Amino acid sequence: MTMKPLLAASTAVMLAGPVLAEPQAEVLHWWTSGGEARSVAVLQEQFAAEGGSWTDMPVAGGGGDAAMTALRARVLSGNAPTAVQLKGPAIQEWYEETGLADIGPVAEENGWEAVLPVRIAEHMQCEGQWCAAPVNVHRVNWIWGNKQILDEHGIAMPTTWEEFNAAAETLKAAGVTPLAHGGQSWQDATVFETVVLGLGGPEFYQQALVDLDPQALNSDTMRQVFDQMRVIRGYVDDNFSGRDWNLATAMVMNGEAAFQIMGDWAKGEFLAADKKPGVDFVCAETPGGGFLYNVDSFAFFKVDGDDRQQGQALLARLIMGEGFQKTFNLNKGSIPARTDVALDEFDDCARQSAEAMNAGAENGSLLPSYAHGMALRGAPAGAITDVVTAHFNSDMTSDEAVEQLANAVASAM
Ligand code: BGC
Repeated sequence: MTMKPLLAASTAVMLAGPVLAEPQAEVLHWWTSGGEARSVAVLQEQFAAEGGSWTDMPVAGGGGDAAMTALRARVLSGNAPTAVQLKGPAIQEWYEETGLADIGPVAEENGWEAVLPVRIAEHMQCEGQWCAAPVNVHRVNWIWGNKQILDEHGIAMPTTWEEFNAAAETLKAAGVTPLAHGGQSWQDATVFETVVLGLGGPEFYQQALVDLDPQALNSDTMRQVFDQMRVIRGYVDDNFSGRDWNLATAMVMNGEAAFQIMGDWAKGEFLAADKKPGVDFVCAETPGGGFLYNVDSFAFFKVDGDDRQQGQALLARLIMGEGFQKTFNLNKGSIPARTDVALDEFDDCARQSAEAMNAGAENGSLLPSYAHGMALRGAPAGAITDVVTAHFNSDMTSDEAVEQLANAVASAM
């Protein structure tokens, strides 16, 4: 026997390593709209291409409230899913409650620290350990417009709330619904936080919705915010109650309404319907500018079994892969969380988003979205949303709303 085949045989054994189980993952998420489903499919395909077996657990409901209820039920029954769409301080809340799998080895092997902005990396860590993997950065404070309607009525995208109101009055007088809105509490909260930022500015936003400063919550500026919310209430159609966000986006697409105020997952919806930015629809930051960020991420509960643990490691690696971050975000409407993914193939709205994010990091206007679970823990965020929704859906005065807001936050802390 010569040396050659012997060497080849031993090399083959070394390369094969230990026998691996087939990676398994049951994935809980709330990406069920057209654009969202197209995006999560990218992850499913990559997972399958690497030999993984994916069990889908979609829980419909924009903003993820229903998904979070389903998650709690699963954890309480001692049967946590392998991977969960989870974000912001909820990651740390779950870590404190049940522990989360340590994905540090994947993060270190793949150099996550070097390619993530510090602010995003911090959201992904629990007591210094990597406990979640980010897929994107969504900007929440966008206003979308139907180009044809706006052109027909000679309306430019508004840069102040006064301009927005003036445009809405023109549209209303012409019989066009100014604002497509879905009356679900998280959508009310989404509009509300853009008004807080736009009318109050970044410092006020930080004080009111991040630091929960009682003076800011109970201020004249906050009164003006509720005044503007009341004005906005007059610009939605009669059937807004309970409507899903993607149906509101469809109203803008189909010319049934002029504007929608919604994060850039709405762009994913326009794109999935083959609508072109700048041609069929237009994007602009909501009046006042700034950048409210909403980073989607996945966390991994502690599970038994090699197959499931390997599924977690594989998912974490794929999620942070350069190729995945590009393709996923082209579909989702967001921009990559990784700073080293080129934006050449992205549209102008995405480039504008990246520029505003970088500028915001320099000038203090890069802020976490409260409405999308990035700024606050569950209890105070829920308390604020309850008041915002109660105000939007009644004839509560701004004075009453401000008082209720301050009280609700105080008792939730
Ligand atoms: C999530 C998005 C999602 C949107 C609507 C947001 O909270 O971050 O990924 O598309 O809700 O469901």
